[in-house]
Amino acid sequence: MERERTRNSAHLNIGVLTSGGDAPGMNAAIRAVTRGALNHGHKVFGIRRGYHGLWRGDIYEMNSRTVSEIIHKGGTFLMTARSKTFETPEGIQKAVSMCKVFELDAIVAIGGDGTFKGALELSRAGIPVIAIPATIDNDIGCTDYSIGYDTALNTAIEAIDKLRDTASSHERCSVVEVMGRHAGYIALNTGVTAGAEVILIPEVDFDFEKDIVHTLIEDRNAGKNHYIVVVAEGATSGLELAKRIESATGIETRATTLGYLQRGGSPTWRDRFMASTMGLSAVDCLEEKRFNRAICFKDGHLEDLDLEAALQIKKTIDDDYVAYLDRLTM
Ligand code: F6P
Repeated sequence: MERERTRNSAHLNIGVLTSGGDAPGMNAAIRAVTRGALNHGHKVFGIRRGYHGLWRGDIYEMNSRTVSEIIHKGGTFLMTARSKTFETPEGIQKAVSMCKVFELDAIVAIGGDGTFKGALELSRAGIPVIAIPATIDNDIGCTDYSIGYDTALNTAIEAIDKLRDTASSHERCSVVEVMGRHAGYIALNTGVTAGAEVILIPEVDFDFEKDIVHTLIEDRNAGKNHYIVVVAEGATSGLELAKRIESATGIETRATTLGYLQRGGSPTWRDRFMASTMGLSAVDCLEEKRFNRAICFKDGHLEDLDLEAALQIKKTIDDDYVAYLDRLTM
């Protein structure tokens, strides 16, 4: 027989998990959810390894001290995983039964698009959820900002600035591949602010001869002695592009793939602040019994949207924005 609930029904048992690619600021978000909820008399349970941990019952009660000394740390102390098992109906049902075993009243899921989709599946199976956007790609359609994006941008421009030093010393072209499997936000916004001559993103097709060879030769004829080309991993391979550029232009060219460097590092002020306020917003939603919501940052302020509707919202980099920023590449 189900144990009589002796807990005060006004108080919730809240599970917190991080899922998908880690992002700097995730720890700050976990900390805010935990402390925000504890301050309102709720209990908080950490779920290790994302949805996989929920499915396996890798769950433990947290307190205020659990989340001490983490706001400045990259990564996620709850760890993360990309769980194929969870995506099956059986996996969802197992996760639901685990929520019952641990008497979890709601789940706060912190992560990217895949995390939001998993949260929606959980909500459809009857588990109240709140989703917090966290991915360095910043490609979640319902929000202008995802936790981790600012730190990744700063990591990338610091690296590109360093590469410019050696490119100028050797009169070389430096091709820098940044993350962004399907989205070019990192490439576009680091390329523009690092002063790249060429920026390639998955959203915009390019012509190798016209957009790259012609541009670099014109720059050389104008007196430039080094060149930065920033390419999103979803646009093309930086290594292959470097070989083609050197062969087509005769400019000595080297490739650097920033890769997972962009996922690490101590979160910037912006990511700590966004993560902390998004975490508190998630607690507010639970407090007000507004379940199955996505925390979003829209037009300069936080709001929460119905999760299913939020997942329908798509965003992309529009040509006008690209043209606007293109005015800076001379
Ligand atoms: O989604 C964030 C991201 O860092 C992408 O930019 C990148 O392509 C992907 O994760 C890498 O995924 P994984 O960590 O599973 O290799």
